[in-house]
Amino acid sequence: MTVQREGAKVSIVGAGAVGSSLAYAALMAGVARRVVLQDVNEAKVKAEALDLAHGSQFFPEASILGSADVAATEHSDVVVITAGAKQKPGQTRLDLAESTVRLMTHVIPPLVERSPDAIFLLVTNPVDVTTQVALDISGLPQERVIGSGTVLDSSRLRQLLAEECDVAVSNVHAYVCGEHGDTEIPLWTSSSIGGVPLLDWERSTGRLGAAKRDEIAHRVVNAAYEVIAGKGATNYAIGLAGTRILQAILRDEHAVLPVSRRLDGWYGLSGMCMSVPTVVSAAGAGRQLELPLSDDELAALRASAATIRDTAERLER
Ligand code: LAC
Repeated sequence: MTVQREGAKVSIVGAGAVGSSLAYAALMAGVARRVVLQDVNEAKVKAEALDLAHGSQFFPEASILGSADVAATEHSDVVVITAGAKQKPGQTRLDLAESTVRLMTHVIPPLVERSPDAIFLLVTNPVDVTTQVALDISGLPQERVIGSGTVLDSSRLRQLLAEECDVAVSNVHAYVCGEHGDTEIPLWTSSSIGGVPLLDWERSTGRLGAAKRDEIAHRVVNAAYEVIAGKGATNYAIGLAGTRILQAILRDEHAVLPVSRRLDGWYGLSGMCMSVPTVVSAAGAGRQLELPLSDDELAALRASAATIRDTAERLER
């Protein structure tokens, strides 16, 4: 039985396209009774909240407040951080690292001061590095500092596999793990279609195959670049992915999601935040599952972890 936590409060920091879309998705999903949107741009944040509030009749009972004052976030159950620079066409997420770290040093402390018992959900890119920085700055327990990670990428993979295999996306089970970025990896070994291991499904149906899987992997890794080139930013799917994580936390679901969290020995990896299948509940990001991996998948995940670690170490210098 999932327990809906009455009166839950979610504060979303950053009222740009991502923060506003996440607020919209969270309200439509009824994840919290109180949603606060906070941004330094007072006119913008108040207008976004007003626009959302005008739709109150159409989503489950909830209040929405927009404020430039960080005090409005106090006593939150979950604080979601979306504030940060937008990826420009052709720019990698890691290219944003320096400016994002500087921003986090200012943004995180006053939020933790006002909600010391909250779970912090980082969305700002590069999200693995941002999650690590937020963990270091906040001093909070590692299970309470979570990055949206590759929840979105896994959704992109599942959508493409569903399309290619002609089955409902709800019957596709597949993870993208590693960096939320160019070194992320689709894990074919543990994927399944309607409960049939994907590689067995391939052999029995003659569909997909290595070349098609490579093409799908390329489309997933480059999905954000494609959207950014066309409309300047991604926002809807990341808003939905962030809402899915909020649901797992606020409904105490113990759902397995590939969120970014500090690794402490997963397949021998430690010391960086990276996305692996993780049990998400009201306590935050807990147990990390060591799912079956091919040698190539494990090698690629180790390389991805090294990329994240090297970026974090470069920033510390
Ligand atoms: C994307 C952004 C959220 O992948 O990094 O769309």
